[in-house]
Amino acid sequence: MCGITACVGDGDVVDTVLTGLKNLEYRGYDSAGIATLTDAGVQSHKCEGRIDDLVDELGGVDLCGTFGVGHTRWSTHGKPTDENAHPHTDCTASVAVVHNGIIENHAELRGELSAAGHLFTSETDTEVVPHLIEEELAAGKSPEAAFRAAIDRIEGSYAIAALIEGTDAILATRQGSPLVLGVDDDRRFLASDVPSFMEFTSRVVYLHDGDVVRLTLGEHEITDAEGEPVSRSIDTVEWESEDAERGGYDHYMLKEINEQPEALERTINGRITDDGRVALADFPPGTFDEVSEVHFLSCGTSHHASMYAQQLLRDRGVPAYAFTAGEYATTPAPVSEDTLVIAVTQSGETADTLASLRSANERGARTLTVTNVVGSTAAREADEALFIRAGPEIGVAATKTFTSQVAALLLVVERLTVDITGTPSEDSEAVLTALRELPDAVDRLIGSSIASSLAPRYAGSEQHFFIGRGVAYPVACEGALKLKEISYEQAEGFSAGELKHGPLALVTPETPIVAVFTGKHDTKTLNNVEEVRSRGASVIGVAPESADHVAAAVDEFLPIPDTNPDVAGVLANVQLQLVSYHVANVLNRSIDKPRNLAKSVTVE
Ligand code: F6R
Repeated sequence: MCGITACVGDGDVVDTVLTGLKNLEYRGYDSAGIATLTDAGVQSHKCEGRIDDLVDELGGVDLCGTFGVGHTRWSTHGKPTDENAHPHTDCTASVAVVHNGIIENHAELRGELSAAGHLFTSETDTEVVPHLIEEELAAGKSPEAAFRAAIDRIEGSYAIAALIEGTDAILATRQGSPLVLGVDDDRRFLASDVPSFMEFTSRVVYLHDGDVVRLTLGEHEITDAEGEPVSRSIDTVEWESEDAERGGYDHYMLKEINEQPEALERTINGRITDDGRVALADFPPGTFDEVSEVHFLSCGTSHHASMYAQQLLRDRGVPAYAFTAGEYATTPAPVSEDTLVIAVTQSGETADTLASLRSANERGARTLTVTNVVGSTAAREADEALFIRAGPEIGVAATKTFTSQVAALLLVVERLTVDITGTPSEDSEAVLTALRELPDAVDRLIGSSIASSLAPRYAGSEQHFFIGRGVAYPVACEGALKLKEISYEQAEGFSAGELKHGPLALVTPETPIVAVFTGKHDTKTLNNVEEVRSRGASVIGVAPESADHVAAAVDEFLPIPDTNPDVAGVLANVQLQLVSYHVANVLNRSIDKPRNLAKSVTVE
């Protein structure tokens, strides 16, 4: 959802800013641009298209500077065009601004600035910012004061970086959109996300909402919303820059699918004792004694992980409800101080999830976030945080983060069950043993999957339905989401029982049905398989390898290693990731950067 990047160095920073942008391209890829500041003033270049298009165009442009800002865009206000690409400048082209987020009062500000004679050249909300700065400079303010005064006028969510003639610095701020500072000896970096500059430095400062940062050669100064100097700690990220590279795979998505065994190892490492109990350092036994019900808030793939955890909690007698965050933000469910609200978010920056989390915080619920990103807004705003430790995920379609989310949530589920019901779940030992064995099982599955051989047969079908019961239902939904995201094929996930209440009317011999089995509720799902097969549809069954009754009832069988049913859904999902990947590959789709999508959606 738009990426901004910036660098101050002691030599030309154009290549560094472009590298930073390339590393952020997963956040948006419909237009891109860069600006630099030199003694000669602000120079900028931008165009519709991907960063490679920008790089090609820059071949014929003389652009250099020791201060640079860059932007890769996912359109919100205005189509992807050269004019709407960032950076945006003021009338005199002495201010250049890159922005991620949404300025809600842009129409009013644009009206006011236009009446004062400012000429706008784009349809974006962002363009008001350089004009506001220009207006303040004209009123005699210093560049820093003008920047701060302009920011004070805007409402909404933003991360903004600006170059202003007359100051040897990059000025930046954030409010509700992510912005991280990278610290190297001489250089300073800014980016919407750490992978942008990970190959240059692993030392990061997570800026807070309202912070204004001034970057100069080898230095940074941070002031808070009131203008008071503040000190923010420098953390070291544990990821290696190779973690965010493609490492010989054709796509990041395939690399990340293959990384799942290690990601899972990290997720569970140190969190299950040798005698088979949950050991979450920040959540010792009894932590959740007072909790009476659990709400999950999340979007998309993370919502499917939440639905998975919801099914498990309900199975264990704990009232649990998974809400889509966008709805919860506008129509929240009642909470009390005994409600535990869990925001599940890979990025920790999804606007809908943050809005719903804030609503829960304001209404007095106890809040926890389950996220991949240390220092993210969700991690800071929730009362407590549990990190899934999946490592960086660059493919827009989430794979390893879903797997690690579910594994982390399984641990939370077992802890909540003991705390709330007073006893471990009946299956607790078996579930935790299966969880410990999961990395190996995923490894075996990836090594033996025949998903690639099925893909040519099913790619290009009229539509694809995915069905399942219990935890297999969210897995079916996730399988369908993954397929539609990266292959653009029509796909829907249903609770197996719902099929006959309407969607069955759409089933024809041209509708492959993917049926997910975990070893629980299989007989009922097999009845639904019969219903669709008798209408001529062919069925792909994803089930434990020993499920001969399933293998005998379906047209194609995709086995997963035998395991506990509560954990089997994770393995079934890995098979579905591979099916989606190979279908998209057969159709020659843009797998890592699907059209219209971007990772981390920071607008509501
Ligand atoms: C799909 C996908 C999205 C995200 C959703 C929420 O592959 O990744 O559906 O799950 O946009 O993002 P987070 O988890 O960062 O809150």
